[in-house]
Amino acid sequence: MPLPSPSTPLSDGAAVAATIPSSELHRVFREADERERATGRPVTKLHVGEPYFTPPPEVARALARAAEEGRTTYTDVEGLVELRERLVEKLATENGVDTDASRVFVTPGSCQGLAALMQAVAEPGAEILLPELHWPIHLQQALLAGLRPVFYPLGADYRPDPEAVLAAATPNTRVLLLNSPSNPTGAVLDAERLSALLGTARREGWQIISDEAYEHFVFDGAHVSTASLERDVPVSERIVHTVQTFSKSLAMTGYRLGYLATADERTARAVRIVQEANLIAMATPVQYAGLEALRLGHVVKENRAMVLANRDAALPAVRDAGLMAELPAGGWYAVLDVAPTGLTAEEFSARLLRTRNVAVVPGSGFALLPRLDARGRVLSAEPAPWSRHLIRIAVCGDPGTLRDGVAELLDFARECGGAVR
Ligand SMILES: Cc1ncc(COP(=O)(O)O)c(C=O)c1O
Repeated sequence: MPLPSPSTPLSDGAAVAATIPSSELHRVFREADERERATGRPVTKLHVGEPYFTPPPEVARALARAAEEGRTTYTDVEGLVELRERLVEKLATENGVDTDASRVFVTPGSCQGLAALMQAVAEPGAEILLPELHWPIHLQQALLAGLRPVFYPLGADYRPDPEAVLAAATPNTRVLLLNSPSNPTGAVLDAERLSALLGTARREGWQIISDEAYEHFVFDGAHVSTASLERDVPVSERIVHTVQTFSKSLAMTGYRLGYLATADERTARAVRIVQEANLIAMATPVQYAGLEALRLGHVVKENRAMVLANRDAALPAVRDAGLMAELPAGGWYAVLDVAPTGLTAEEFSARLLRTRNVAVVPGSGFALLPRLDARGRVLSAEPAPWSRHLIRIAVCGDPGTLRDGVAELLDFARECGGAVR
């Protein structure tokens, strides 16, 4: 793909942000809410990635104490030094990642951490490799940072093959985004696969952004932080930036507390500028809540066990019905293939909501292929054709709701006839 020419005229004056598609999830949220208002009956919400477990009370108390005691001034732009030092320890002991507080940044959710990193590594005209089935926010963030998205294929098990990733790249590729465990597929990448991808990235001169939001929700195998694989490489030569969060592990979604560790000092300098410009600093009492949260490893284990129990209660029936090849190895979601019903994902999800009051997200929202103009504005965004039968459901919700929702979904799928078992 040619690099944009600085003399390319602005054709219609539209800002890049104004051309970026909204996440499909928001449409489903709106439709489910409208249906609840119209029918006066609750919708079974299998589209929502919000856990049924709640943040530990100790965390709320730490937040309140910090606010009451007046620990409310700005912190350093990187975040509270005590918290960053504890995060360095956490990354070392839990993830095998060797880092230093000067390269760790506290962020308002890992969402902003990812956006900050993309802005920090973006070069004009550079491309980022995203998985073909991806969290839609990754795509939005890349476009806002001025990175041009290129998609790498996933195998039948939703894992990338390093050769295929390389084949998708171009001379303008600079960044590879990895997300293990994945949203939406739940695929988990093991050390061997990650080493091969890291080797390719090194040889090609790419950087890696490793989104590990669901690190504590690996059910088959173990979570491997990509950066742990380069702990013996000199800091100045490292290429893996790690992004993690409190949102999933401790259900602290609304606290907005995440963090990142840059591979090297140069990227840390760039992230510092992005944080200065976007934040000044992260909310101070929330950072004190984070310090407390880091003491609650036992709660993280309980939360993992709850999602695993949900997965094992709800999904084997979906697999046995022929709507999924294997259970997701991790994460909070599962991707179902409704092709055996003879319906497209759009038809399936619309009819499931209308006739069974169950909301799911069509997979097309996770597989948009934007066409860009030279300045990075989106001219069009069509879903990849192979995504037309995929839907995503969340398995982190209330077990009873999940059981009932999946039972309705399977009953509806069988009613459609086709090849559903
Ligand atoms: C893959 C992935 N990364 C990052 C995030 C961001 O979460 P937060 O900003 O709450 O840390 C999410 C949230 O759904 C996600 O699914």
